[in-house]
Amino acid sequence: MSLDLFVIQGYDVAMTVEPFEFNAPASRVIFGAGTLSRLRDEVSRLGASRVLLLGGHRVSGVPAVARFAGVAMHTPIEVTEQALKLVGQHDVDCLVSIGGGSSTGLGKALAARTGLPQIAVPTTYAGSEMTPVLGETADGRKTTRSDPALQPKTILYDVSLTLGLPVGLSVTSGFNAMAHAVEALCSPQANPAVDNLALDAITRLARALPRIAERPADVDARTDALTGAWLAGMCLGAVGTGLNHKLSHVLGGSAGLPHAETHTVLLPHTMASHALSSPEAMRRIASALGVTDAPTAVFDLARRLGGPGSLAALGLAAPPADDLLAAAWRGDRPAVTGERPDLSWLTEQVVTSFAKSPDPRTSALLGDLVRRLHGFVVDNDLTEDEWRTAIDFLTRAGQICSPTRQEFVLLSDVLGISSAVDLLTNSRSPESTPSAVLGPFYVEGPPSRPSGANLAEGLPGVPLRADIRITDLDGRPVPDAVVDVWQSDQDGFYDVQLPDLEGPVLRARLRSAADGRLWFRSILPSEYPIPDDGPVGQLLRATGRHPYRAPHLHFLIEAPGYRRLITQLFVAGGRYLDSDAVFGVKDELIVDFPGGDDRYVEFTFRLAPLRTPELDLAAELRAEDDAAGEVGDRPADH
Ligand code: BEZ
Ligand code: FE
Repeated sequence: MSLDLFVIQGYDVAMTVEPFEFNAPASRVIFGAGTLSRLRDEVSRLGASRVLLLGGHRVSGVPAVARFAGVAMHTPIEVTEQALKLVGQHDVDCLVSIGGGSSTGLGKALAARTGLPQIAVPTTYAGSEMTPVLGETADGRKTTRSDPALQPKTILYDVSLTLGLPVGLSVTSGFNAMAHAVEALCSPQANPAVDNLALDAITRLARALPRIAERPADVDARTDALTGAWLAGMCLGAVGTGLNHKLSHVLGGSAGLPHAETHTVLLPHTMASHALSSPEAMRRIASALGVTDAPTAVFDLARRLGGPGSLAALGLAAPPADDLLAAAWRGDRPAVTGERPDLSWLTEQVVTSFAKSPDPRTSALLGDLVRRLHGFVVDNDLTEDEWRTAIDFLTRAGQICSPTRQEFVLLSDVLGISSAVDLLTNSRSPESTPSAVLGPFYVEGPPSRPSGANLAEGLPGVPLRADIRITDLDGRPVPDAVVDVWQSDQDGFYDVQLPDLEGPVLRARLRSAADGRLWFRSILPSEYPIPDDGPVGQLLRATGRHPYRAPHLHFLIEAPGYRRLITQLFVAGGRYLDSDAVFGVKDELIVDFPGGDDRYVEFTFRLAPLRTPELDLAAELRAEDDAAGEVGDRPADH
């Protein structure tokens, strides 16, 4: 940067002059829908009549003397040599490449060896048609050269040819184009013309790609994207490549990673690194995109569009030593680098607004909740769209709730919150049998049955006999305990889910005898999906999670003088023990059900007394600094 001082009409005007050079790419560009029909004229315009077509497309009405469809990524020289034979054999005088970056690359490689003029018809957003750069691979190493003679003479952009480009390829190719524009803005050769082309390219691509993902044949969105790709290609042609391309080429040449996919993974990370060296460029991109932080916005866009998430997912076996590449290998979301507004004044206002609640525990809980939620919003740079998605999700969760459907508890379950509350509760009496979530299938007041009853009442399934003992923490029998049992059938359904079943089955209320024992017959429970026809199910599907619970028997045990125990016994060896959808499995509750075709389970439940000196002391201590000390002490039932 140089500082020049001008004196104009007596005024001292200090101006900073950013010197630049600008080499406008010198190609004839034809853009539109159906422009492929003009190919014949464009060939004649170059004074040519013997075309070698490169790429998989067949076109009629063109004076093609040969076609080479065997193009390959990274322009391997063996492939170039094969195509070169056709040039000689057929006395070719013009090269026409139709396809993505690989076809264009082959056209340039042949031009480099023959001096023939090229026409490029790009069908992706790769942008290399606008550049004089050729990258070739020989023996697994990629070399790059730049020569104005390698730039195609004519470029025909035909939007119609892009309508069928698969969404996945559109996304990664679009990110490749976006990378050109980002690099141009951060380049030492940046200049005002290129800056504006780049910002326009980024804006168009970022707004077109989500529409293409929704409606791949949307002509307006495709036009926007192809225009963006062309502009990005102009940037690339004018200032050359930067960090993202250099890293992509290294990874492509050495590890064989696919070009556009690698760009997609790397771009947010190279942007995060540019945010330190070129903060102004990132600020301009953020403002063009209407976001506060450009690298994370681009990361989120790639994720939302289903782009590849990490270099590991692309097949790079080991994490690279470099910090940037290691983050890309893991697929980390870059740290927010843009300026973040300080919202602490707002947070404190809201926290203070709750401070005068008559219940200090309420003030404390709400105050902390507000702090954490505000922190969540700021740290994740939450967008209005994301906020609206969350509100919509909660609205639908509320709308599906009914006297027999509690979607919010289900949400709490799949987020592990129910289990967290349960574990806290449990940790207060570690000597007793661990508890587990109640679940939505408990029905108050199940039918009383004598010990020895068969809860399955003839339902098909693997027969099961359960011998249960209820004791206190010292192993002394607890007589007259009320024990509610409920479970799924062999297909994973509870009776309440089977309207054709008459009356309650696979659920009962039993009582322990004087020796603390009771027993019943039933069938082996099966794994089953939690109710997944609502927003919680959508959440699971959208995040690739399955809805299954590991096979289990439910118990709710009450005895005078003891704390109520709500728990489950899990069948050892059952499915989903490691990935229970509601995180309800605890090691101590996984029990052997031996016996092959005739199963047997034996278990002793240890109940905690309602009051112990320790519990009394703990309660007293809690009450001292917390007038409503009961909040954390509720069992996790619902
Ligand atoms: C159950 O085990 O019945 C259950 C628990 C939580 C969510 C759904 C089902
Ligand atoms: Fe269950």
